Amino acid sequence: MAAAVTLITGASGGIGQALAQVAARAGRRLVLTARSAACLNAVADAIAAEGRARPDIVALDLGAAGAADRLAEALAARGLGVAELVNNAGYGYVGRLAKGDRAEQVGIVDLNVRALTDLTLRFLPEIVAARGGVLNVASVASYLPGPGMAIYYASKAYVLSFSEALAQELKGDVRVTALCPGPVPTAFQERANPGRGISSPVLLRMSADRVAEIGWRGFERGKRVVVPGFFNKLVAFFAWHSPRSLILPLTSEVATRRHGEAS
Ligand SMILES: NC(=O)c1ccc[n+]([C@@H]2O[C@H](COP(=O)([O-])OP(=O)(O)OC[C@H]3O[C@@H](n4cnc5c(N)ncnc54)[C@H](OP(=O)(O)O)[C@@H]3O)[C@@H](O)[C@H]2O)c1
Repeated sequence: MAAAVTLITGASGGIGQALAQVAARAGRRLVLTARSAACLNAVADAIAAEGRARPDIVALDLGAAGAADRLAEALAARGLGVAELVNNAGYGYVGRLAKGDRAEQVGIVDLNVRALTDLTLRFLPEIVAARGGVLNVASVASYLPGPGMAIYYASKAYVLSFSEALAQELKGDVRVTALCPGPVPTAFQERANPGRGISSPVLLRMSADRVAEIGWRGFERGKRVVVPGFFNKLVAFFAWHSPRSLILPLTSEVATRRHGEAS
């Protein structure tokens, strides 16, 4: 029988690395994946240095077609089955739709949407059999359209919608949680806007470690949606309940101030 593991995508840094550390402390056997084998090895070594089982690693571009099947084959070859899936790998892109790099923009859909969906569907039978769980990393951006970062915001709206529907379909059998962080200082900001990053209000900012702790606790408790931090909860609430005619000019103005991009 295959050993049951928690598979974490995008675990080579940032929130994924922090989630790996929290999950390891919770006693999970881990498989970590991302593109950078060197960074994955460093995360696995750090977990082993804490006296936990050393995670398996699979270095892979999840944005590429067929990645979910290749990952499943790599796990099967090691006699591992997935009981919990943490879909965390993702990136953003700052720029107007008409002016931005097309491949970089469409790549967001490949990774944040298609890979997340394909991995979930690929491993769902094993997860259901194990009565395990799926933790999807969405964002406060899931709650509103984002001129200046349009595809990223739309991708995270998909992640929240998909996760909530999945939670309902599997209610009572499998835990499904959408984790919706506000701004977290990681490599995300530099990748989304090279050389400039993305500024954010201090009140909304939270460390990757704290987000991972809160997200993992919510996941263990079977919460459907987790928005870490009081002020991020406020943002999500008002974004969700305000008319789009108010939200769109506001987010456009904020985008212009934050990274010089208007709708
Ligand atoms: N930081 C924030 O403010 C924030 C806020 C809300 C939500 N989020 C979400 O949180 C998640 C993690 O982001 P983060 O802030 O931790 O960013 P990050 O530090 O840039 O981490 C992103 C992770 O995804 C991996 N990744 C990127 N492209 C990949 C690909 N094609 N194939 C496989 N793995 C890939 C990266 O590893 P490699 O480069 O080694 O592949 C890395 O491990 C994302 O879904 C992001 O949208 C972030």
